[in-house]
Amino acid sequence: MMVLCHFATPSILFSTLYDPVALYLTWQRSPDTTMTIRWITPLDRQQDTVEYRAEGSPLWISCEGQHAEMPCDAPYFIHSVELTNLLPGTNYFFRTGEDAFIYKFQTMPSELLTPLNFVVGGDMYHDSLDVLHETNLQAAKTNPLFALVGGDVAYAADKKVGVLPRWTHAWIDLLVGQKPDRWLEWLIAWKQDMVTPDGRLIPMLPVLGNHDTSGRFGQTPAQAPFFYALFATPGLQGYNVIDFGNYMSIVLLDSGHTHPINGQQTAWLASTLAQRQEVMHTFAIYHVPAFPSVRKSNDEYCSQVRKNWTPLFEQFHLTSAFENHDHCYKRTFPIKNGQIDRAGVIYIGDGAWGVEHPRKPRKLIQKWYLAHTASERHFISVTLKGDRRHVKAINSKGKIIDEIEW
Ligand SMILES: [Fe+2]
Repeated sequence: MMVLCHFATPSILFSTLYDPVALYLTWQRSPDTTMTIRWITPLDRQQDTVEYRAEGSPLWISCEGQHAEMPCDAPYFIHSVELTNLLPGTNYFFRTGEDAFIYKFQTMPSELLTPLNFVVGGDMYHDSLDVLHETNLQAAKTNPLFALVGGDVAYAADKKVGVLPRWTHAWIDLLVGQKPDRWLEWLIAWKQDMVTPDGRLIPMLPVLGNHDTSGRFGQTPAQAPFFYALFATPGLQGYNVIDFGNYMSIVLLDSGHTHPINGQQTAWLASTLAQRQEVMHTFAIYHVPAFPSVRKSNDEYCSQVRKNWTPLFEQFHLTSAFENHDHCYKRTFPIKNGQIDRAGVIYIGDGAWGVEHPRKPRKLIQKWYLAHTASERHFISVTLKGDRRHVKAINSKGKIIDEIEW
């Protein structure tokens, strides 16, 4: 299906130092020794150089990358540089050219010797930028080392058609087209807000949601042109794994938007988890929940996730799965073989980072698997301490609404 785009020019702040319209960090491999820097400029800035130096070193090192035009003839370049051979657990400064503003990032530690924390959430730019900013700022305040982004990132595929039958979505998306300006607005908000109290940019690892894809489900990467052009991970395959030393692995999955849940992706998941049975903390993140807090459990895609991925999570002792899409907060009991089991997997979600009016969850008595729910805009904060994990759900005002350690 062809993707139509409507584009609006964002406002750009001018200063004496050059500052790209948007700039963000992600990873394609080892987060302890690499960093992928991406930035967006108008078409008159073709330079793909990043200069960087370790904190304490006076020496700037230059690294060349490449650029590509934004999809749908949007008048911007997406520049990309991957820095490699970095030192683990180290602060670095960088700039996108000698005349540009200086930013800071930190590489991940190669071993888990001190507590490590990150944030998780999805369904982000659902409503106004004010709503998005509020949760972004609360998340950044927790000083996370990185963020997992659970899909429905910018709502570039219109959300209003959600009330219509699913078979109509692909046709309406074809007629209405995607809204690239929403991607830029989301990225600009990320750059502004997702900075830690000590000035570090917070890298992100994203997955795809239905509103990131024209046609929502059962499509190909061509129907999610902005997601695949903007993010180096998960890559065109649509799913990927990032290993943090040998202490944590994060599996990024596509819940049926541009790659089928079953077949190749499930086979890949089986071998990926089988190879990581010795890893202390293994997490999966994807958009559509196996164990939803709002929608019916027999939803076609929820059922597919449950049928194909849940048995693998259980077999290979996944630490936890992060789910999204239902727009409220939920935590399940540990689940194994369709019942509560202390040796099972805990599912945490359900995607309400930027949802102004989160949905009302089902009553706990209605869903045997729900341990805690809340109709709250929130993000999830995870802290790893040795072989233990402390998980907090925090609302957009900074209040803890749920907490668990195991
Ligand atoms: Fe969704």
